[in-house]
Amino acid sequence: MYKLTSLFLFLLFISCSQQQCTDFSCVTEGMKCTGDFTSLGIIFDNLYTYDNNARYCSSGYYCHRDQQKCIKLGQEGEACYQNYCNGTQPCSPVGNGCLPGLSCYRQSIEAPATCQYLQYLMIGEECSTSLQCAYTLECNQSSGLCEISQKFRDLMPSGVECLAGLHCQGGQYCGNGKCLNAVGVGQNCTDPQECQYGTTCNNQICTVVMSKGEGSSCEDAYDLCDISENFYCNDNTLECTKLSSLVQGDCSDSSIAVCENGQKCLCSSSNRTLGQCESVATSNLGQCKTAFTSFYTCLKDNNSPLLLSGINIIAKDSVGMKNCYQNFCNIYTSCTQYPGSLGMCNNDPILNTICSAVSSSPSNFLPSINLFLFILFIIPFIL
Ligand SMILES: *[C@@H]1O[C@H](CO)[C@@H](O)[C@H](O)[C@H]1NC(C)=O
Ligand SMILES: *[C@@H]1O[C@H](CO)[C@@H](O)[C@H](O)[C@H]1NC(C)=O
Ligand SMILES: *[C@@H]1O[C@H](CO)[C@@H](O)[C@H](O)[C@H]1NC(C)=O
Ligand SMILES: *[C@@H]1O[C@H](CO)[C@@H](O)[C@H](O)[C@H]1NC(C)=O
Repeated sequence: MYKLTSLFLFLLFISCSQQQCTDFSCVTEGMKCTGDFTSLGIIFDNLYTYDNNARYCSSGYYCHRDQQKCIKLGQEGEACYQNYCNGTQPCSPVGNGCLPGLSCYRQSIEAPATCQYLQYLMIGEECSTSLQCAYTLECNQSSGLCEISQKFRDLMPSGVECLAGLHCQGGQYCGNGKCLNAVGVGQNCTDPQECQYGTTCNNQICTVVMSKGEGSSCEDAYDLCDISENFYCNDNTLECTKLSSLVQGDCSDSSIAVCENGQKCLCSSSNRTLGQCESVATSNLGQCKTAFTSFYTCLKDNNSPLLLSGINIIAKDSVGMKNCYQNFCNIYTSCTQYPGSLGMCNNDPILNTICSAVSSSPSNFLPSINLFLFILFIIPFIL
């Protein structure tokens, strides 16, 4: 499971790039589309490998599955039209026509569906309804706190206090049915979740993330390589490897040029049949490392639940986002860029929705959305 967390750190762990110049056009409200930048399909399969002739909705819009036209993403309380959830199962906070972080809540088939923040409170947090508590928790109406739901408590043998990290306080993990404190640098571990934020389990010792250089094994934890020195985890060798400089030449023809890892072959804006390799990493990756470090420090200081615990951490009022959303947006802007046709289309799913909205008007606090945190949230449920 942990390996997939590297999707969050996709820059730190880069898989091979496609070798065709990819082309697509940007469409906006009401126009016919084939996909968008906020739905899971793109996030998982082809963030950068678009079909040729694809038509993607620009930022702030999604491609309605049935109507195949771009519709504005719903804000909290607005109507939504797909991936309904009533809280009896984990609710996806993406891919439902709402701004990321919101679920499409429909109490029953007859009821109207609206975008709502669901399942974002952890154990012991104050709640008014069970819909707010993370899945497997419920709101105890007499104490007003989220606690393990009766249904799941019934599944727990006596002496067992947790079934998952979600049943423990922030900064803890569930080991053999007991809530245990995550440990710091140099301590023993068998799994990354046992290590505090900012560290990961390497050779059974909690080790500072992004601290290893050329040739170090990153098999256990893909976020070990020092991105500030341009090292990323190569998915073929599973070793820290230096990012290559930009490959020159027409990459739409692989006999002429083949882009290296961390680069994408994008169609040239002046000649759509001509490909050019573009870096998806920013030029100053020292800032990227700093941003990650600050984010982890913030999560740790605020006793945030484990990112992989299954809580909707990208909801506005989750512990992580209440305190650390700015750090979170910083990762996004510090580590990746949208070069060439991507940039021209203005299709950054984050910067043009949440993060930019926040930085330009701090009072208008919107939830911080990050593509990569969606993945963190979703993964525990699909594995
Ligand atoms: C809630 O959703 C589940 C699964 O989609 C469904 O089986 C159940 O009947 C729904 N409950 C209500 C009250 O509609
Ligand atoms: C709910 O909270 C009250 C007050 O803290 C407690 O006495 C009760 O046992 C809790 N209910 C459940 C089902 O745990
Ligand atoms: C850590 O692991 C080493 C080697 O297995 C062992 O000797 C040591 O006692 C462990 N330390 C703790 C605190 O468990
Ligand atoms: C575009 O590039 C291709 C491949 O290099 C070339 O054959 C073609 O003439 C170019 N078209 C234009 C309009 O420059």
